Amino acid sequence: MFRTRYLSLLTVLFLSPGSRGETMNEALVRATDAVQAATPRAQADPARPIFHVTSPAQWVNDPNGPIFHKGFYHLFYQLDPFSDTGGVKYWGHVRSRDLAKWEPLPIAIAPSGDQGEESIWSGCCTINGRGQPMIFYTSIAPGKSAFDHAEQWAATSDDDLIHWQKSPANPVLSEALHGERKIYDWRDPFIFKEGKKTFVVLGGHLAKNGEAVVNIYEAENPELTKWKYRGVLFQLPDTKAGSAECPNFFKLGDRWVLFVSPYGKVRYFVGDFDAETCRFQSRTQGVLDPGNFYAPNTMLVPDGRRIVWGWVNGFPNGRGWNGCLTVPRLLSFSREGELRQTPAPQLEKLRGKQTEWRNVRLDGGGEFFALPNTNTLEILAEIDLRSATNFLFSIKSTGTNPPVTVSFNGSELKAMDAKAPLRLAKGAEKLSLRMFIDRSVLEVFANETACITKVISPLDANASLEIRTEGGITMAKRVEAWPMKTIW
Ligand code: FRU
Repeated sequence: MFRTRYLSLLTVLFLSPGSRGETMNEALVRATDAVQAATPRAQADPARPIFHVTSPAQWVNDPNGPIFHKGFYHLFYQLDPFSDTGGVKYWGHVRSRDLAKWEPLPIAIAPSGDQGEESIWSGCCTINGRGQPMIFYTSIAPGKSAFDHAEQWAATSDDDLIHWQKSPANPVLSEALHGERKIYDWRDPFIFKEGKKTFVVLGGHLAKNGEAVVNIYEAENPELTKWKYRGVLFQLPDTKAGSAECPNFFKLGDRWVLFVSPYGKVRYFVGDFDAETCRFQSRTQGVLDPGNFYAPNTMLVPDGRRIVWGWVNGFPNGRGWNGCLTVPRLLSFSREGELRQTPAPQLEKLRGKQTEWRNVRLDGGGEFFALPNTNTLEILAEIDLRSATNFLFSIKSTGTNPPVTVSFNGSELKAMDAKAPLRLAKGAEKLSLRMFIDRSVLEVFANETACITKVISPLDANASLEIRTEGGITMAKRVEAWPMKTIW
């Protein structure tokens, strides 16, 4: 055991991560060893989340290729198997039967050094017109800057989505498709279907610094190996936006929604799509989550609903792990047409024994609630604000760890230092909060429309909740708390 670990460590130290000439399978073996060697330290860290998807160890960024296939929800993610700071990228893999419990699976795909790849970046997973599972991703070659040069590659698998082969047709999309047009940071394929047509969108920018665009391509064969460039689907209204990373484009109800990650807060646009002209007309827009949240990716589930996961970033380095994905969030529109995000109902399966309080009057002073003795929690609070103008929720450890704070001032939700607009409908006074605390991750959902993710210092196991209001008498109609179980 010691010897194997020692050898693995040596391998990690002395072979460069993007070893040229290595086949994908050789790279997978080396990466698996490296993750295994880092796992004991990562898992021993008391700050590592237990009910958010992450790798057993090392660096994780974007969720990739979420897909429901043959009874399993599959989720892939960007993984640097060799460090907790982010370098070359592989695709990690987990699957679930119910969106509550997850099973870690072998690393799905790796760079094929023998075919001129160094790093494999974000993308999607789909079933092609021949019924075959297919991953599309951005391939980065050694010594080439992703700013200037990228190709889009594919891999195929059988129905388990575990054993993948690179497509002999690679690259399936190359820059030559654009003719004279130069697109910088061209990456992150996302496939969608409309009518009988299959399209892929890819992000990038037209000017060296700005003019971020989402490009659209139409499939020319059922195998999805031949594509035609159909131009710019959408240009971001902010011409200074750095890029349009990880575009997701999908129909939700009778509207079309576009997500883009522009090197800043993730934006969404809602509007209409014309599949003939391949143009998107945006009518409304907003920020998906202003916290430690980036590069979301969505999955269509069998009942027609759509689920999103984002990358939770901003953790400290040096713990053998870094990064996780948010909880699965269901997307929908409110009656007023706002984009709503609600925690997937299946998360309720992770709840332990409930503690609850009903109808607690809050009249200016703070009220304290003793929480379950753990720092993996879900808290739900329904507050009847009445005449109160400010509302503050703080969860305090008994030790020196800083409190977790969430507040509302009538127009804005604040979680730690991140702010999201939140307006109550005319005459409405209800504030409905759901909070997930998973050691160093906080996810807050307010009235299903405002959503904030923050990296926090873990609470201790004896934390208590204080609810304080200003400006009038308030009623906490319902406060409930549950210890949360691990997803693994
Ligand atoms: C977004 C991103 C993607 C890219 C990937 C590389 O976080 O920069 O655009 O494909 O990460 O890991």
